[in-house]
Amino acid sequence: VKAGVPEPKIPGLDRVEVPAYVYDLGEVRRAHALLRAALPEPSRVFYSLKANPHPAIVRTLNELGCDAEICSPGELAAVLEAGVTPDRIVYTGPGKRDPEVAEAVRAGVRWFSVDSPVGLDQVDRAASAAGRDVRCLLRVNDASQVPGQGLAMTGGPSQFGADADWVASEPAAFRTRLAGLHLFGGSNLDDEPALVAQFRAAIATARRLAGVLGLEPLLLDLGGGFGAPFARSGSLPRFATLAGRLADLLDDGIPGWRAGRPAIAFESGRYLSGTCGSLLTRVADVKCSHGRWVVVLESGINHLGGMSGMRRLPPIVPDLEVAAPDREALRGAIVAGPLCTPLDTWARSEDVPAVRPGDLVRVPNVGAYGLTASLLAFLGHPAPREVVVDAGRIVEVSQLGLVRRVLGGPDGRT
Ligand SMILES: Cc1ncc(COP(=O)(O)O)c(C=O)c1O
Repeated sequence: VKAGVPEPKIPGLDRVEVPAYVYDLGEVRRAHALLRAALPEPSRVFYSLKANPHPAIVRTLNELGCDAEICSPGELAAVLEAGVTPDRIVYTGPGKRDPEVAEAVRAGVRWFSVDSPVGLDQVDRAASAAGRDVRCLLRVNDASQVPGQGLAMTGGPSQFGADADWVASEPAAFRTRLAGLHLFGGSNLDDEPALVAQFRAAIATARRLAGVLGLEPLLLDLGGGFGAPFARSGSLPRFATLAGRLADLLDDGIPGWRAGRPAIAFESGRYLSGTCGSLLTRVADVKCSHGRWVVVLESGINHLGGMSGMRRLPPIVPDLEVAAPDREALRGAIVAGPLCTPLDTWARSEDVPAVRPGDLVRVPNVGAYGLTASLLAFLGHPAPREVVVDAGRIVEVSQLGLVRRVLGGPDGRT
């Protein structure tokens, strides 16, 4: 556990009620420049809103030239609110509902990533009904998994994509409106050789399937998986030679990519937004229980790490940075949140700075998969504030709210 100073002096931040997420747009720009430098030109970068749909972050990335990858009506609303034009959006995800596809088509979204012939048919129906020209990427579940992925999403039974072998054996089932392929192997790779291996496999599969399908793709989305530190201090991994190595792979496998036919795209969520955000929260209680220190914070898995609470990610073992690092550490402490469930525990045995009730603590690098990936509604605590900072100044403070709308009465009609 590192100890440090809670947050650089930002005028007015001490008046914002905590818990609060603080997002620094300067860091978003820096992350974008690093990622751009690691990718070959020409290529597009889609920002995956699932990492953080805050409109200020989306708007900043859009101004830098990022397109947007979305997968829900809420993300569609966020991306449009941020001013992204619909021609720069790709709508992805399994299990889309007919009304959401229709709404996206009406809003002007032209690219959909689909996972099966049912998904292709769904987009086709929505496009025909609206009289719109819409194109599909077929998401492909590759035959094998590339080692090194934090969260593998290919190479095994999955709701994501159509198996490469299925596409190869029944190409006719996949041709409607198909204008490209989408491969997303997995996420959170901070090792350059693992990224190269993943993209090599994606390019080989794209090439093979384009041949089988008789497809001249307009867009080839090779996925991403660029890693970033989460709830730990540390900086973004650098991929010093990735751009050159990817350009070589593309030269070998995808003729025409340098002329933009197909356009090559990459996706990133956590690399672009992870390091811009930190969570400020307070220590509610410190006590000793059965010989163990227990630190109870005002934030738990409701503010950070709902997915870890559901055991879908490894437990969060955050760095807690405090203002008074000189006090002796609490050894092997339990770090818990305020929820009435034993699952609301960030760490079960950590050395924690000797915090006291009322102390402000800071969890660094939680700009991605922070607030909106948490169990926000569980037990009814208010959402943390979200503070957007740019050039050392607060530009906006907001708070997500949950409002129950009554839609119908006893007869069930709405
Ligand atoms: C299709 C797709 N694109 C992009 C992402 C974003 O991944 P990351 O935030 O690791 O960049 C994911 C994550 O699950 C994904 O499934």
